Amino acid sequence: MKLGFIGTGNIVSDVITGISKSKISYKKIIISPRNKKKAQYLKKKIKKVIIAKDNQDVIDNSDWVFLGILPQVGEKILPKLKFKNKQIIISFISTINYLRLKRLIKKRLKIVRAIPMPPIRLGKGPIAIFPPNKKVKNFFDKIGVTIEINNEKLSKNFWAISGTMAPFFELLNTLSKWLAKKKLNKIESQKYVVYLYSALADLAVKNVSSPLDVLVKESQTPGGLNWEGINELRKSGYYKKLEKVVNKIHKRL
Ligand SMILES: NC(=O)c1ccc[n+]([C@@H]2O[C@H](COP(=O)([O-])OP(=O)(O)OC[C@H]3O[C@@H](n4cnc5c(N)ncnc54)[C@H](OP(=O)(O)O)[C@@H]3O)[C@@H](O)[C@H]2O)c1
Repeated sequence: MKLGFIGTGNIVSDVITGISKSKISYKKIIISPRNKKKAQYLKKKIKKVIIAKDNQDVIDNSDWVFLGILPQVGEKILPKLKFKNKQIIISFISTINYLRLKRLIKKRLKIVRAIPMPPIRLGKGPIAIFPPNKKVKNFFDKIGVTIEINNEKLSKNFWAISGTMAPFFELLNTLSKWLAKKKLNKIESQKYVVYLYSALADLAVKNVSSPLDVLVKESQTPGGLNWEGINELRKSGYYKKLEKVVNKIHKRL
């Protein structure tokens, strides 16, 4: 199978890196020449990567075509491209919905919207897809955990949550900097915070079938440090604010 990518930005680089380290069987990865620096880097790092002449060249030489461009770019370039019969199109574009994609692509093809996240480069993390598609699910299951969504409206909720990735990193950043301010070594401070949160996330994954309320309860003793932490944050409106922010992101979608 030949995999084509239009737009060689951050998320496409992550997906291609994930694929290259996975058990996915593919013949070639064909990428568009933009972004030039990232395209050259991927070609150098991964043997089966080829840089195409242009976007049409990507399509002409691929079985599946991934769209990793910004919405405004998609609106501009998709109507000018000629897709092949039986091609599968997988769009990472956040705000172009399924119906709009169909109109822009003009051909009756299988189109799947997907939300990969940067940890896909490690073969980890969720990939929400709409509409459900067995082949696409099998593919993404080799570089993460696929969540199939039946209703496009519902997929907006996953996009909204995906908008909390940078805030999560900023949480780690704030805590690391706090430690470092106490005259602790910067790298050691960051190491402590990052490994702590990574282990906590692993624990949450281990308990993925039981309600998170259980972990919240079990991780605090009345009057203890975590008890104080959570109560102070609750009192300050921190979690309510988080909900409001997710709602605000959701409204944009
Ligand atoms: N980043 C994420 O975590 C993430 C997650 C899920 C979905 N997405 C979605 O994926 C899409 C890409 O996001 P991103 O963060 O990867 O953005 P990005 O890093 O800005 O990548 C966009 C890419 O599109 C290229 N491009 C611009 N005009 C083009 C054209 N006419 N033809 C072909 N390529 C063109 C850019 O090249 P130049 O640099 O040369 O302009 C760049 O390589 C967005 O729609 C976003 O919503 C992103």
